[in-house]
Amino acid sequence: PRTAPILVASNRGPVSYALGEDGSLTARRGGGGLVSGLSAIGPDANAVWVCAALGEGDREAARRAGDSHLNPGDTGGQQVRMLDIAPDVFAAAYNGVANSVLWFVHHLLYQTPVEPVFDAEFAEQWAAYESYNAAFADALAQEAVDEAVVLVQDYHLALVPAMLRERRPDLRIGHFSHTPWAPPDYYRLLPDDVAAAVLRGILGGDRAAFLTERWANAFADCCAAVLGAEVIRDGDGDGDGGGMATAVRFEGRETRLGVHGLGADADFLRERSRQADVEERLSALRAQIGPDRKSIVRVDRTELSKNIVRGLLAYRRLLETRPEWRERVVHVAFAYPSRQDLAVYRDYTERVRRIADEINEEYGTEGWTPVALHVKDDFARSLAAYRLADVALVNPIRDGMNLVAKEVPVVSERGCALVLSREAGAYAELGEDALVVNPYDVEGTVRALHEALRMSDGERADRTKRLAAAATALPPQAWFLAQLRAL
Ligand code: G6P
Repeated sequence: PRTAPILVASNRGPVSYALGEDGSLTARRGGGGLVSGLSAIGPDANAVWVCAALGEGDREAARRAGDSHLNPGDTGGQQVRMLDIAPDVFAAAYNGVANSVLWFVHHLLYQTPVEPVFDAEFAEQWAAYESYNAAFADALAQEAVDEAVVLVQDYHLALVPAMLRERRPDLRIGHFSHTPWAPPDYYRLLPDDVAAAVLRGILGGDRAAFLTERWANAFADCCAAVLGAEVIRDGDGDGDGGGMATAVRFEGRETRLGVHGLGADADFLRERSRQADVEERLSALRAQIGPDRKSIVRVDRTELSKNIVRGLLAYRRLLETRPEWRERVVHVAFAYPSRQDLAVYRDYTERVRRIADEINEEYGTEGWTPVALHVKDDFARSLAAYRLADVALVNPIRDGMNLVAKEVPVVSERGCALVLSREAGAYAELGEDALVVNPYDVEGTVRALHEALRMSDGERADRTKRLAAAATALPPQAWFLAQLRAL
């Protein structure tokens, strides 16, 4: 039955289920910026959220939902339809194509002398990616009422807009990229047919939206370079037509481009960070750091693009070259496990642990452990760290937005100096009051950390106030509504 006037589609849904030995299902909130943003939909929107079953618990939940297709209750308020896609197809699409190839391309993660290698195995994975996208298009076509609005999310589902338009030309379809978009020379590492299919897929929608102008422009540049599509630009006043790309015309259709810089949810964060479990963790962290010490905090998925290793190297150099900080600072690093099915992520996680251990061995004393590394995912503890941080280190190689950079200033108690990579989408909004770094430049990062630690209380508080205002300009609910309205 057709049920919904508004549909959201993403690989990871708002919940994931764990299957207990007794057959019970326990729901857990999904992680990452996409889920944080979309969770604002709320229960009243009459929306259906279509996502993939990620593990056995989800598959069981999908089976139990039966004919209604929908998982009721305990999903954060939304109606969720989980797609039970065959495990090998899912793995090839999610691990093989989405996370190993498309993610790598958009975040510039390849070591190009030896990778990528597009061989027969990749061709099979690509076929799986196509059928995984088709499964989403089928489900959306089934659930959508006439002229419904469909918001398709991210690089996992790049082919869905065009596939869905074929099935249901009456729908209004938007695609949103939560990642950066690669510049054309790098994007063209992809096999030509794949490079074209991804762009054609997204151009099948009425709108393609991004977190910053930079990523929207890069997408338009790729459409021009790969497809020979026509790009419409805003006049920027100087007459050379060099303004932001606003639409792409291709094969007789026009897809409008949009920019919606997802912000932090101030009300939710302030409320949540005052709860008892956060207070408890705050005391524990304070005890761990010790009195009269400063803290440099980072919170990330253990993700190659987050640049955790160079962050640790910079901290080590800080202790080496500015001995006055020894015993006086602790680097609190939360590196939560992510995509551990991929060997390079497991290796990266190992490397992070090893360097943290090395620093602790080299510089630690009886009463002082220089790096406090935590790998077990704990949102309440992240909030506690935001509250007490003197310095937040957000130094990704490349990042669609980075919500940590926006959450810290909102939750911070005494003001927090933000060391921010110019390659994070958040830089566009926070660049003025952050200490900006080139993420590859470890010595530059050392200088920024030193400056951040020395910043006066007054300046830190002033900057934090302005950062918080900029960070909350477009809270999740408004971000979501702006996209609906634009469609
Ligand atoms: C980023 C992506 C999301 C993804 C999240 C977590 O924010 O844009 O689409 O859900 O990372 O990654 P995971 O692979 O665990 O879903």
